[in-house]
Amino acid sequence: MQKNLDAYWMPFTANRQFKQAPRLLSRAEGMHFWTPEGRQILDGIAGLWCVNAGHARPKIVKAIQDQAAEMDFAPPFQMGHPKAFELAERLVELTPQGVNRVFYTNSGSEAVETALKMAIAYHRVRGEGARTRLIGRERGYHGVNFGGISVGGIVANRKMFGTLLGGVDHMRHTHDPARNAFSKGQPEHGEELADDLERMVALHDASTIAAVIVEPVSGSTGVLVPPKRYLERLRSICDKHGILLIFDEVITGFGRLGSPFAADHFGVTPDMMCVAKGLTNGAVPMGAVFAKQFIQDAFMNGPEHLIEFFHGYTYSAHPLACAAALGTLDTYADEQLLTRGAKMAKSFENAVHSMQGLPNVIDVRNIGLVGGIELAPIPGEPGKRAFNVFLDCWEKGLLVRTTGDTIALSPPLIIEDSHLAQIVDTLSGAIRRAGGHVQSSNHHASAAAPIHVSESTHAAVNTAVRATAHAA
Ligand SMILES: Cc1ncc(COP(=O)(O)O)c(C=O)c1O
Repeated sequence: MQKNLDAYWMPFTANRQFKQAPRLLSRAEGMHFWTPEGRQILDGIAGLWCVNAGHARPKIVKAIQDQAAEMDFAPPFQMGHPKAFELAERLVELTPQGVNRVFYTNSGSEAVETALKMAIAYHRVRGEGARTRLIGRERGYHGVNFGGISVGGIVANRKMFGTLLGGVDHMRHTHDPARNAFSKGQPEHGEELADDLERMVALHDASTIAAVIVEPVSGSTGVLVPPKRYLERLRSICDKHGILLIFDEVITGFGRLGSPFAADHFGVTPDMMCVAKGLTNGAVPMGAVFAKQFIQDAFMNGPEHLIEFFHGYTYSAHPLACAAALGTLDTYADEQLLTRGAKMAKSFENAVHSMQGLPNVIDVRNIGLVGGIELAPIPGEPGKRAFNVFLDCWEKGLLVRTTGDTIALSPPLIIEDSHLAQIVDTLSGAIRRAGGHVQSSNHHASAAAPIHVSESTHAAVNTAVRATAHAA
C-alpha cells in the first residue's frame, strides 16, 4: 500500500474522499481488474469507455513491447515512420466511404481541438474566412481543452474557466424524459430539435458558421441516445448551408454500437470524426481526426515546400501508439469485435431495462453496448445517490461509472451473458441499497417499495462527497 497519496492531484476525482478510502487497481486481464489485495473487479465500463477488446490482449501487448525495442520515438514533423502510414491505410478501410484522411493526436480532447481548428482553417483556405463560428450542444462532452469545453455543454466543466472561446453557440440537448423515458434504443421524440441549427443560421447567418460538433450518442453526460431521424436532419441542414458536420466518436467509435462507427450505425456520414479510446484499446494514448478528402485537398495549395496546416503534436503518430493501434485492429478483426456489439445488444438491452422498477430508477437508456440508468437525485445532494451506487458496486466487485445521477455501463465488447448477469445482480442490489428517500417521476419507480438508508449504507458511502456531472 502506498505510504503517501498526497502528491498526486487526481483528475476528475473527489481527491479528499478518495484518499480517505483509496480504490486502487493493479492488474487487468480480459473482463477484469484486480486490486493490489487480489480482489477481482468486473469491468463494466471498459476502463473508461476505451478497453473495447478487453484487457491485456496478447497481440496488443506484443506489438507495444516489440515497438519499444525497435524504435521508441520518431519525430512526426517533416518525418514519418512506416507504421503511421500503415495504420492510416488500415483505418480508412474501416471508416465510412469518403472519410479517408487521418490526422493523429494523443487524446480525444486533442482530436476535438484539431477538428475545430481544421474546420475553421478549411473555410479560410478556400476563401470563406468569415466562417469561424462553432456550434455545439448543451450537455455535450468534447474533452477538456478550451475548444472542447467551449463547444461542450456540461456546466461543471465550463464555469471555472472564464470566457472560453468566443463565437460559439449551442443547440439544445435531446434529453426529454417526459416523452422518451425508458426508450429502448433510439427514442421516438425529438427529431425537430435538429432545427435548432436552422435557428442558429437565422441568428448568425450561415456565412459565419464553420462547423457543428455533436456526439452521435452522448456518453459522459449520462448516455443520451439521439432521437430517430435527428442526426439525418442535422446532416441535411449542414449540407444546405455549407456547414461541416463533426461527429465526436471518441466513445462510439470502434464497435461500441455494434458497427465500426456510430456513423455506420445511424447511416449518417459526417465530414470529420474525432476518435481516441478504442483506437488503441486504451493501451497507449492516441486520438485521431478522420476527415473527408475534400477537406485536406483544400489545404494542398501554394508552394509545395511550405507546411499546409500549422498544427500537430510532438507525439502525433507516436510509434508505440501506432503499434498498439495496429495490434488493436488485428484483435478486433480476429474476433470480429467491431460487430460483436450488435450480437450482444439485445441481451444487453434486456439486462439494463430489467432495472426499470427498482427504487428511484427514473429512466433507462441504451443502444449497442452502452447503457444509462438514471436515478432520482437525493434532494439537495445531486449526484450522491449514483455515487453511493458506484461505491457499493466497487465493494461488491463491479466497476461502473457515474455522471450526475446516471450510472453508465459500457463493458468491453468481449462481454458474455454470465458477465451481464453479474452486472445486473450487483447493480440492482446497489440501487436497492442506495434507496432511502424514494423519489420518482414515473409510475414504475413509485410502485417500488421504499427502503431505508440505515439498513443499507456502507461505511465508504458515508464518506461520499457530492458528485456532480462531469466527464469522460
Ligand atoms: C465524446 C468525447 N470526446 C472527447 C473526450 C476526451 O477524450 P480524452 O479524455 O482522451 O481527452 C471524451 C472522453 O471521454 C469523450 O467522451
